[in-house]
Amino acid sequence: MKDYSTKIAYITGGSSGIGLSLARELVRRGAKVILIARNRHRLEHACNELESVTSSGHRNVSIVSLDVSNIDQVREMLPKTVELSGAPDILVNSAGIAYSNYFERIPYEKFIDMININLIGTWNAITVLEPLMRNKGGSIVNVSSIAGFIGTFGYTAYSASKFGVIGLSEALRGELKRYGIRVLVLCPPDTDTPQLVEENKTKPAETKALSGKSKPMSSEAVAKACIRGLEKGKFMIIPGSSGKMIYLAKRLFPSPLNWIMDREVQRAQRDLG
Ligand SMILES: NC(=O)c1ccc[n+]([C@@H]2O[C@H](COP(=O)([O-])OP(=O)(O)OC[C@H]3O[C@@H](n4cnc5c(N)ncnc54)[C@H](OP(=O)(O)O)[C@@H]3O)[C@@H](O)[C@H]2O)c1
Repeated sequence: MKDYSTKIAYITGGSSGIGLSLARELVRRGAKVILIARNRHRLEHACNELESVTSSGHRNVSIVSLDVSNIDQVREMLPKTVELSGAPDILVNSAGIAYSNYFERIPYEKFIDMININLIGTWNAITVLEPLMRNKGGSIVNVSSIAGFIGTFGYTAYSASKFGVIGLSEALRGELKRYGIRVLVLCPPDTDTPQLVEENKTKPAETKALSGKSKPMSSEAVAKACIRGLEKGKFMIIPGSSGKMIYLAKRLFPSPLNWIMDREVQRAQRDLG
């Protein structure tokens, strides 16, 4: 296990799911971790849990309660955190929400929320923290999704936000290289977290059919794959084999892939009557 005891990680969405699992893995490796999310109670709960993982006896975890989609809060609170705790060596943008439904059933407000939190929230944290990382360099991990490189039935709004995260990351990668800051993008498949439970409530049957019978990954497995990718210096980190196959198929055989997906959707629609 690589030693992270000199590293400081800022994790938006660090109070739950993938962000929390990443925080746990980093704390285990000795890193100092700043958890960022809106709900203070959940942040405190996550902080207490992570402190029990720390073996050094030092307080390695702190929390910041803010809404990443609110640029005023981000501009006010993150520089203060940097003054207090130091600039990040690793910034993980995991804060996100998902809502899955047929296009015509997605309320406009949900679409705006997904763009504001998933895409603009990622932009906001980077825009404030990246200049403060320039002296020492580091890594920025933006969490997208498989639905961020393949437009998926039932995910029009979510895919739009997550395609945006990949576009932002690809363009920024080259720009921040000169400061020794690497930009990476994590594209998890379905992962067993509170978000997945929430999105399954409204997910169309066709979308469920496309996922097939595959079990969601655990957030711990996604976090470990992310750290492996980070250490290897990969740009695109896709945990699990099915996501990697979809990524390859999308790049090499886009039309046959669309044909296969359309066939699965038609099958599900026939079953629905
Ligand atoms: N689970 C999956 O199947 C899956 C698959 C692919 C990609 N992803 C992506 O992975 C990331 C993490 O998702 P997850 O499944 O781990 O979800 P989760 O368990 O619901 O955690 C989401 C985290 O984001 C925080 N958050 C949400 N809105 C926020 C805001 N406006 N400002 C600050 N923090 C905010 C939440 O805390 P508060 O609500 O307290 O703010 C929470 O800490 C998301 O970007 C998601 O889209 C998930």
